[in-house]
Amino acid sequence: MNYRHAFHAGNHADVLKHLVLSRIFALLARKEAPYAYLDSHAGVGLYDLLEGPATRTGEWQQGIGRIWQASGRPALLENYLAAVQSLNPNGKLRYYPGSPELARHLSRPQDRLHFNEKHPEDGQLLKDNMRRDYRVAVHLGEGWHVPRALLPTPEKRVVLLIDPPFEQADELSRCVQSLKEAISRVRQSIAVIWYPIKDERQLKRFYQDLGKSGAPKLLRAELWIHPTDDAERLNGSGLVIANPPWGLEEELHSLLPWLAEQLAQSQGGWRLDWLIEESSTRST
Ligand SMILES: C[S@@+](CC[C@H](N)C(=O)[O-])C[C@H]1O[C@@H](n2cnc3c(N)ncnc32)[C@H](O)[C@@H]1O
Repeated sequence: MNYRHAFHAGNHADVLKHLVLSRIFALLARKEAPYAYLDSHAGVGLYDLLEGPATRTGEWQQGIGRIWQASGRPALLENYLAAVQSLNPNGKLRYYPGSPELARHLSRPQDRLHFNEKHPEDGQLLKDNMRRDYRVAVHLGEGWHVPRALLPTPEKRVVLLIDPPFEQADELSRCVQSLKEAISRVRQSIAVIWYPIKDERQLKRFYQDLGKSGAPKLLRAELWIHPTDDAERLNGSGLVIANPPWGLEEELHSLLPWLAEQLAQSQGGWRLDWLIEESSTRST
């Protein structure tokens, strides 16, 4: 386990993932019923962009750094940016929320949050960062066990983020397996898998496996900042979202072109389509 998210916090991939998560929380908040948020590979929850690992890569400057300074930002960014703003009340960007802190900021008193992180030091940091919130449980176990360990939850609505480091060759197929386990336990789970856009051949197989996962609906949202034909670098990233809340597809249609324009490096682009077609019944 060499991967440390602190080197990459706030980069273009985090912006995509966290913005989409923020919209999912916003759309779920249209109903009072509580939801459970499960984060199987949670990281430490909170990052300092001006000290330590983040300063060595500076990746955030081409990610949240650009968005923070952009003019004419779409209103749909509001609650994502509010979460970042809450950590930087004087307006100068220094701290960045990982997915746990974002969830904590955007969830309501009735919601429940389960964060899992296997790396012992990062897990302890996560505990320290989250300890004052009664809604939060931090687990230090195996992320791939999260769906079978925690589902179903007492809350009927479930959001599951599967965000592994992709250090090992089998992680794409383990993501599909986790998705299947989540769906088999709670069919309407909103399961979100983040994946890197690097090796197109591997992704082709991943998409095929996802198409056969049995999820009722599966939306694919991708954003790239370089042409997608170089298997050696992170050209962009994608999210597949099982059972997206009603309205998310339309929102992403307006957000992705703007994001691609803001975050492009050598060449930006995006796509949004269904890996498993939406049926006529819709619910959150
Ligand atoms: C991409 S980072 C997570 C970032 C976080 N979700 C966010 O958006 O802020 C992946 C995390 O998974 C952890 N990890 C690696 N292997 C794991 C495993 N088998 N189970 C649980 N966590 C694992 C790593 O230590 C790392 O903190």
